[in-house]
Amino acid sequence: MKEKILVVDDSSDLRELAKAILKMQDYEVTVAEDGKKALAIFDRISPDLVISDIAMPEMDGFAFLEAVRSREDGNAVPFLFLSAYSQKVNLSQARRLAVDDYLFKPFDAQELLDAVRVRLDRRQAVQLFDTREAHLQTVSLMANVIEARDPYTRGHIDRVCDIALRFGKHLGWNESSLTVLEFGAILHDIGKIVVPSELLTKEGSFTPEEWAIMRKHPEKGAEMINGIDHLKPAIPFILYHHERWDGSGYPFGLKGEKIPLGGRVLALADFYDAVSSDRPYHDGQPKETTLKMIKEESGILFDPYLVSKFFEIADDLP
Ligand SMILES: [Fe+2]
Repeated sequence: MKEKILVVDDSSDLRELAKAILKMQDYEVTVAEDGKKALAIFDRISPDLVISDIAMPEMDGFAFLEAVRSREDGNAVPFLFLSAYSQKVNLSQARRLAVDDYLFKPFDAQELLDAVRVRLDRRQAVQLFDTREAHLQTVSLMANVIEARDPYTRGHIDRVCDIALRFGKHLGWNESSLTVLEFGAILHDIGKIVVPSELLTKEGSFTPEEWAIMRKHPEKGAEMINGIDHLKPAIPFILYHHERWDGSGYPFGLKGEKIPLGGRVLALADFYDAVSSDRPYHDGQPKETTLKMIKEESGILFDPYLVSKFFEIADDLP
């Protein structure tokens, strides 16, 4: 879904210039010529970010910002002022109204795009973090449904999540990336909801037909999450955790760095736990054996760089 930006300025040249620049980056841009018209549009489209002039007829930028901030859904919307240097004196007023950034005319395209991107990314990170606890509970509930159907993997999700988070921290990922990783690890097998429970608990090997069903779980999981905006960033973990470095994995048979990083990271955590814990078809292997298997598969099943980083946390692994 495209991110929506509302541009407000009484100069039509400036509106059109800003619109053209923003559209190059594939934003959905709506324009208005004063605060009053902009407010009506704001209520209609709920933009992801607002860029507004200060001096405008009807309703000026300050009154518009104040009106936006008084709305329930306007409190956290990034709001950027775009004004002439001569209006600089008003900045303290803008600050009181919690403006997020100022740009001064004339601005250049890169400056505008950078300011917009930084604010949109920041908002996404904050939103994800603010709602993390509530979402974690929902997500855990979904994952518990899977585990309830598959007694052999009980505890697998918690362990994979723990291993993946240790690994992500060691790789230097930031807070919001770790939150997404956590969701991804909890949900990685959510698509198994479509796999009949006889299959999940089967002790012998699978027939080709049974394999075909089993191999659908990453795509099914990604489809389920695709409709939930705040969980979408977790899709790479779900969709690519069975891809393998040499292209022998599924669902797409991607090779090497074509496999999104999230998938490569989770593949290691998932494999480590799957091998080291008891399953219907095998007894859990000791830690040393599991690590030895991972080392042997470095550059074959797993990203060799990630394997070397994984070994750096080997002492901390369960
Ligand atoms: Fe899986």
